[in-house]
Amino acid sequence: MDLNHARILLTGATGGLGHALARCLAEKGADLLLAGRDAKRLAACHTEIGGIGGTGRQTLSLRADLTLPEDIEKTAAAAREFGVNVLINNAGVNAFGMYEKQDWRALEQVMATNLIAPMQLTHALLPWLKERESAAIVNIGSTFGSLPFPGFAAYSSAKAGLRGFSQALRRELADSRVEVVHVAPRTIASAMNTAAVNALNHDLGNHADTPQAVARKIVAALRAGSGEKHFGFPEILFAWLNGFAPGLIDLGLKAKLAVIKRHALQA
Ligand SMILES: NC(=O)c1ccc[n+]([C@@H]2O[C@H](COP(=O)([O-])OP(=O)(O)OC[C@H]3O[C@@H](n4cnc5c(N)ncnc54)[C@H](OP(=O)(O)O)[C@@H]3O)[C@@H](O)[C@H]2O)c1
Repeated sequence: MDLNHARILLTGATGGLGHALARCLAEKGADLLLAGRDAKRLAACHTEIGGIGGTGRQTLSLRADLTLPEDIEKTAAAAREFGVNVLINNAGVNAFGMYEKQDWRALEQVMATNLIAPMQLTHALLPWLKERESAAIVNIGSTFGSLPFPGFAAYSSAKAGLRGFSQALRRELADSRVEVVHVAPRTIASAMNTAAVNALNHDLGNHADTPQAVARKIVAALRAGSGEKHFGFPEILFAWLNGFAPGLIDLGLKAKLAVIKRHALQA
């Protein structure tokens, strides 16, 4: 996919990865429709990204809560008006804690934002995208989509669902011009991770990538076209092992459960 003047709807543009992605895409000459909820951060992002690449590029922004059906419709309409040929489903939320102790509304929010919203936006925009000369849908998953983790039951479920959705859709669209890209980053240093998650990652020795480094890999994946990309070693190895020997991963994570519980119960 040629990104120079690709017309991209980027959700979650106000977040850590979204902001880095917006910069990276703008530097490649893409026109951007930036979506987020936080008005102040969206305006700041719009101003900064609008200034990249001179007057030849277009940047617009749109406030939308993607858990609201009317905002999905509003976003899809704005995307058609903008002439998008790339949809990047990046908005997401996490909820760290032991499942039975978690508030159901927070868990529903995780499913709605990370899984239902990308499926709804895709559903609303697919007929439009199929008419473009070249088009792509990029779903931002997570290592936890292939390596479901204690303390992250809803988030892992949503990201596993998003991965399954991406695979099914890619196979369904194999005879079309719409590319389906799924990426699965490991931990990213962003505001999504609370102090409790950061403390857990520290104690487990988990590495966090910078949003900028992950954004560059996602942009490379989009340029390369349809497929699934996992980022980070040894997470790639464990996710792969979980695919055919989940019992081994069960044992490995049981050994870490006391540490995970200690942090999860403080979350
Ligand atoms: N951080 C990690 O460790 C990590 C690892 C792997 C994958 N990921 C994935 O990377 C993506 C970006 O995460 P991040 O690290 O950049 O997190 P972040 O900094 O917390 O940003 C999350 C973004 O999602 C938006 N958002 C949340 N709920 C929304 C809703 N209901 N409607 C519309 N937008 C909503 C936020 O908008 P507002 O701020 O404007 O509300 C924000 O722009 C997510 O899909 C996440 O699951 C993250």
